[in-house]
Amino acid sequence: MNEEIYKKIEKEIEEIKFQAENESKNIKSNEKLEQWRIKYLGRKGLILSFTNKIGTLPEDLKPVVGQKINEVKNGLTLLYKEKKKEIIDPLLIKKEKYTDPVYTYPGKTPNEPRLHPITIITRRMVDIFKKMGFGVHTGPEIETDYYNFSALNTPENHPARDMWDTFYLDYKKGILLRTHTSPVQIRIMEKLKPPFRIIAVGKCFRRDAFDSSHSPVFHQMEGLMVGSDINFSHLKGVLIYFLKKFFGADIQVRFLPAYFPFTEPSAEISISCVICNGKGCSTCGGSGWLEILGAGMVHPEVFKNIASKNSLYSSDKISGFAFGMGIERIAMLKYGIDDIRYFYDNDIRFISQFI
Ligand code: PHE
Repeated sequence: MNEEIYKKIEKEIEEIKFQAENESKNIKSNEKLEQWRIKYLGRKGLILSFTNKIGTLPEDLKPVVGQKINEVKNGLTLLYKEKKKEIIDPLLIKKEKYTDPVYTYPGKTPNEPRLHPITIITRRMVDIFKKMGFGVHTGPEIETDYYNFSALNTPENHPARDMWDTFYLDYKKGILLRTHTSPVQIRIMEKLKPPFRIIAVGKCFRRDAFDSSHSPVFHQMEGLMVGSDINFSHLKGVLIYFLKKFFGADIQVRFLPAYFPFTEPSAEISISCVICNGKGCSTCGGSGWLEILGAGMVHPEVFKNIASKNSLYSSDKISGFAFGMGIERIAMLKYGIDDIRYFYDNDIRFISQFI
């Protein structure tokens, strides 16, 4: 066998194959692919030009060279077909690799519905007062000057009006967004026959800048107990019971004198700091105390205002106490939240933390 001649021809064929494969890699269009096909596989192409040479070879080399040429020709034809498919639909290759989804994988769990922390805290507070026999009432968020201020012994030009920066809807008509839940006291007394004890929870509005401890919208709980001989001990008893039930039996409760136009005497009530147990920390500003609510004995002027509409309140014997507290502040202390704005951001990651 003409070993040397065969080696030479085989090397030439391999080189053409290598060159063809290399060139095919950069082909991205049908046009280029067609040029490639003609160059290598066409009737006058490089592969067939070898086939034509077979006739001139020595007899014993003809079949082996023929076989080698066929091998390379088949390989390049296959490559051509693959390339054609890839150009027509580049996604086809990927589609062919598509496998069925694995149905045993766990699905995505939908967000569980959760209550807003303000709702959770409000319900807990309400439950404690319900156990003490308090009825639950509500009042309108849009109020009149009369219910929000005048009836509460805060007539026009009273300096105490500055305590509550007010959003007026119609200043001339005295229509406003209530600055506290205290107007519910008036609405309830006009309606109910004493003795009674009620609480009222709802939104309040103040022209405060939004910062970590202030919000122009917030929630309050109001309380009112009226009867024939209600005194300051009742106020203390009810509030100490509530605070200990809510924050824990070992907290201390402090009453300091305060001023509100609609209560006399008035008190500002604090609990020992739930974070540092009264030692002094950043939450309590180093004082060891956290101010929680305002309260006092219903002012005789308030009863007088009611008496003009409901004579049951004109009796000398009538007395009562009232209190008001901010729900956000209580929720922040209970849960250790340091920024009031979290409550209104509607971020599910925040809301879903509380149970
Ligand atoms: N309404 C008062 C406030 O918003 C709180 C309060 C309510 C004080 C009832 C005394 C009695 O600051």
